[in-house]
Amino acid sequence: MSFSFAFCSPNDAEEVARLLEDCNLPSEDVRDHLEHFLIARSGEDVAGVVGLELAGSSALLRSLAVTRSYRGQGIARQLYERILAYAHSKGVNTLYLLTLSASDFFVRRGFKRGKREDVPKHIGATREFSALCPVTAELFFKDLRREARYFPKDVLRLTPDVPGAMLWAVALDQTMLTYFEVEPNSRFERHFHSGEQITMVLEGELYFELDERLIRVGAGEVIAIPSEVPHAVLSRSVAVRAVDAWSPVPEQYRTAVAEQT
Ligand SMILES: CC(C)(COP(=O)(O)OP(=O)(O)OC[C@H]1O[C@@H](n2cnc3c(N)ncnc32)[C@H](O)[C@@H]1OP(=O)(O)O)[C@@H](O)C(=O)NCCC(=O)NCCS
Repeated sequence: MSFSFAFCSPNDAEEVARLLEDCNLPSEDVRDHLEHFLIARSGEDVAGVVGLELAGSSALLRSLAVTRSYRGQGIARQLYERILAYAHSKGVNTLYLLTLSASDFFVRRGFKRGKREDVPKHIGATREFSALCPVTAELFFKDLRREARYFPKDVLRLTPDVPGAMLWAVALDQTMLTYFEVEPNSRFERHFHSGEQITMVLEGELYFELDERLIRVGAGEVIAIPSEVPHAVLSRSVAVRAVDAWSPVPEQYRTAVAEQT
């Protein structure tokens, strides 16, 4: 059976709350955090859900629940992979969670038992932590900084850049990859950056205006721009898909993507 995964919209609130109630998990505050929830569906049916509450460089993983009739088919595993990728994309260093019923699931994924009194204060202050979860629930945590990051397609959420362009970005400390979808007749005004940029056009064509020449980069072609070299970039009559490698990471993209997703 195939399942689809997507970020929740406000329209999903009732179904999400119903599933959580059915699993005896807190649902009262779901609407406040729904933008950081993922939902799995089989056709129209809700098959599962998981959420994140962001608190600085930490986050609370919560509300992992799978509809009874869909259990045992790997949905929790796939939801977990996606919420982990989302946590990475938001710059989360440490994940915390409370559970009564799924300790083994998280231990197998590298979580360690911790003490409630040791959590950062903004995690301790969440309603889920301070009021909604039973005091008997165990605390687990995981340091995300040194682990490889896998980004399934459905968590690579496009966000607006210059007019006509959308992007997603994936970054480590020293390196970033961006993916752009650019409408016809869009323009990135002349600029330069201290980092290096290598762009590959996947589809369509991009034009790079440099001091002494205009370079057309077609599908399957690459342009490499050293640091401090001024350039403008534009599309003409066709839409473009392209990827860029960056080093070091251009902070404007890291920040923009972290704020918008
Ligand atoms: C726990 C739960 C989310 C698992 O959902 P699922 O889709 O059936 O799980 P999957 O099919 O993806 O199985 C993933 C793994 O978890 C294991 N697993 C399934 N249910 C488990 C449970 N209750 N406790 C520990 N491990 C469990 C599976 O054996 C499998 O192991 P593997 O990774 O070694 O192969 C589901 O049983 C549920 O919704 N329970 C009620 C709500 C709940 O307790 N949520 C956790 C609160 S934080």
